[in-house]
Amino acid sequence: MFELRPETEARVARESRLSGEKPLRRSDDKWLDRWLAATADLARLQYSHPMVDAVIDEVDGRLIRIGNRWLVDFASCNYLGFDLEPEIIDAVPEYLAKWGTHPSWSRLLGSPVLYEEIEARLTDLLSAPDVLVMPTITHIHMSVIPVLVGEGTIYMDGRAHKTIYDGCAVARAHGATVRRFQHDDPDHLESLLRGGDPGPRVICMDGVNSMTGNAPDLNSFAALAREHDALLYVDDAHGFGVVGERGEDELCDYGKRGNSVIQHAGETYENVVLVAGLSKAYSSLLAFIACPSELKQFLKTAAPPYLYSGPSPVASLATTLEGLKLNESRGDAIRFDLYRRTKRVLNRLDELGIATPNTSGYPIVEVPLARHEQIDAVGRFLFDRGIYVTMAAYPLVPRNEVGFRIQITAANTPDQIENLVHALGELTDRFQLQSREDWLGQQLTS
Ligand SMILES: Cc1ncc(COP(=O)(O)O)c(C=O)c1O
Repeated sequence: MFELRPETEARVARESRLSGEKPLRRSDDKWLDRWLAATADLARLQYSHPMVDAVIDEVDGRLIRIGNRWLVDFASCNYLGFDLEPEIIDAVPEYLAKWGTHPSWSRLLGSPVLYEEIEARLTDLLSAPDVLVMPTITHIHMSVIPVLVGEGTIYMDGRAHKTIYDGCAVARAHGATVRRFQHDDPDHLESLLRGGDPGPRVICMDGVNSMTGNAPDLNSFAALAREHDALLYVDDAHGFGVVGERGEDELCDYGKRGNSVIQHAGETYENVVLVAGLSKAYSSLLAFIACPSELKQFLKTAAPPYLYSGPSPVASLATTLEGLKLNESRGDAIRFDLYRRTKRVLNRLDELGIATPNTSGYPIVEVPLARHEQIDAVGRFLFDRGIYVTMAAYPLVPRNEVGFRIQITAANTPDQIENLVHALGELTDRFQLQSREDWLGQQLTS
């Protein structure tokens, strides 16, 4: 018989009343209480705020309709605008005619040849030893991290994405030790690596961070992995498709070809595996791990999703292949547009003296508030001005970063960008955002 603790019961009952559903029965569990407490701010916004858990009724380019309101979407991860690209959309029916809507074999039981084509193209794009495709990054973290580490040691970046945390938690349940190092701090990692923990050793971290928009110093982390016989495991969900290899002929600081932070940093795959997804820049439900061929073959039976999980729909395999082709022909020009639109927003924040953690110029721009309790009102203000953003409540970000996140895509028109920068100006007149000075001071003392 499951019993709820009284505080948990009260919250579940309150939320259920608000959502009009019957109370759920949940197990009595201290972890659950802690987790519910940690997500309380988000839960409150879920029931009270038009920009959280919103139902989108219609899209028109990068405009979305919620009820009778049209808003400009700055919460989309479709960075390259491939979700709206006619060349890609028009190609899908031919794939459906040939393959039907859904393969419905797990990959080990039967893989349409489209997967082989995708893996070959990705291997080439990434200059990787090999690539294995699975439906989502979450599947990969949950299944591959435990297999890589066994009963050894994971060193996890303190701000690693929640799905990495969860993959590490599965590994811990199977006997691994998990140590956390301070976010983006190679010195702290090195001190832990010197501690003589048992191997195998795996260092888990994000590439381009989903909230700050910044990338780690990959060369330092890769060097540490090699020096200490560890494997560096990088999740570049947000960098893949946006940043890539450097070259004299690059159009902007994002580099060329969008082939990830690994290539952007000029890194090799020695002691490094890259995980990323197609569900952001490529607007397709698919993910991959770039790794040696022997590991790929091993994961086909050792990582459960290859056998046990349903596959990506044919439309996603189609949009991935067509997106990869478009990336080769026009990707760099599209990224240049994205870069210019992002720069306009970042320059405006700079003029206004508003702080953002973004020092990279990549299209994820978080704006922390000086008073986190204003998040509700700030969100409503933006909504009323037709601007749709991600509410960055705790625990999506640390408490001192509570605010909102703007994501820019190549499909946002210059007019939409101008509306946004205008609204940001108005916002500074009415609310207290963190100033650059305060923000920098905080970073120095933290
Ligand atoms: C850094 C990072 N990793 C993983 C994920 C989850 O990806 P998927 O939907 O492919 O499981 C996300 C999604 O937002 C992400 O931002």
